[in-house]
Parts: sequence; C-alpha cells; structure tokens
Amino acid sequence: MGSLVRFLFTLTAAVGAAALLAASLRRRAPPSGLPAQVVPSSHMEGRNRSFVLWLHGLGDSGPANEPIRNFFSAPEFRLTKWSFPSAPRSPVSCNNGFVMPSWFDIHELPMSAGSPQDENGVLKAVENVHAMIDKEVANGIHPGNIFVCGFSQGGKDSID
Ligand SMILES: *[C@@H]1O[C@H](CO)[C@@H](O)[C@H](O)[C@H]1NC(C)=O
Repeated sequence: MGSLVRFLFTLTAAVGAAALLAASLRRRAPPSGLPAQVVPSSHMEGRNRSFVLWLHGLGDSGPANEPIRNFFSAPEFRLTKWSFPSAPRSPVSCNNGFVMPSWFDIHELPMSAGSPQDENGVLKAVENVHAMIDKEVANGIHPGNIFVCGFSQGGKDSID
C-alpha cells in the first residue's frame, strides 16, 4: 500500500510538473508565436534550448528517476536537456548512520524548525547544483529556461 501511494504521488507530481514546465516554456516563447524551439538561431543550432535538473529523494538514484521524462511529451520539451544525477553515498544520521545516496545528512525525521541541520552538507549540495546550472548556462542555455525539480529530499516546494 505504501509503495502504491508513493507511486501515485510520484505520478501526480510528475504530471503536474510536466504541465507547469510546459506552460512556463510556452510563456518564454518569442512573440512571433513560434515555439521557442523552432526559431532559427545559428549558434544554437542542434543544441538544447532548456535544461531540467531532476534531484531524486533520499536513498534513490538518478537513473531510477529517468522514466519521469516520459511524462514530458509536450513539443516544448523536444529540445530539453535532462540531467538525473545520483547523490553521493554517505551515512544518514536519521537512518542510524546507514550509508545511502543522500544529498546531505538528515538528523531526525520528521524535521522541525529546531532540528539539527547539516548546514555544510546542504551548502555543498547547493554549490553542486549551481555548478551544474552554470555549466549549462556556459553552454548557451538561457538561465530562464533552466528548471530544478525533484522529489522529497531532492525536492523543492515550488517550481520557478
Ligand atoms: C540534448 O539533450 C538530450 C537529452 O538530455 C541529450 O541526449 C543530448 O546530448 C543533448 N544535446 C546536446 C548538444 O547537449
């Protein structure tokens, strides 16, 4: 039952995210009304126009999340580069120090405002995300067409 609920949640979140991202990319389409992807631009030829960085949840892996791409079938995603990195394996305090893929340490669950936090780990994870984004910007993808998404530990509470 737990895994079914988790699957349905994942499905709902992915479909919701697909709709939001498609709408966002449509808004960024040039005023000509042409989809952004078909506007000819010599230096962008053969290149992706948007980048989606998807961060998995605690204990999961990037490759296991890759099928999520299949939910994003709108034409807006034709020239989207996807990245599903895997978190480094490290001991997780709230799981008795068990080593698993984790973006940063979690001391206790549920977390509250007073929970101890792995500030260094979070900052390092943020730096890694920034490095991945900077690389795509350097490769010519407009910063406004870059989306960071994820589930649970890899999640954000909004897509912007
Ligand atoms: C565009 O994105 C796709 C899907 O992520 C990837 O396979 C391809 O290598 C990317 N193309 C370039 C030129 O980066």
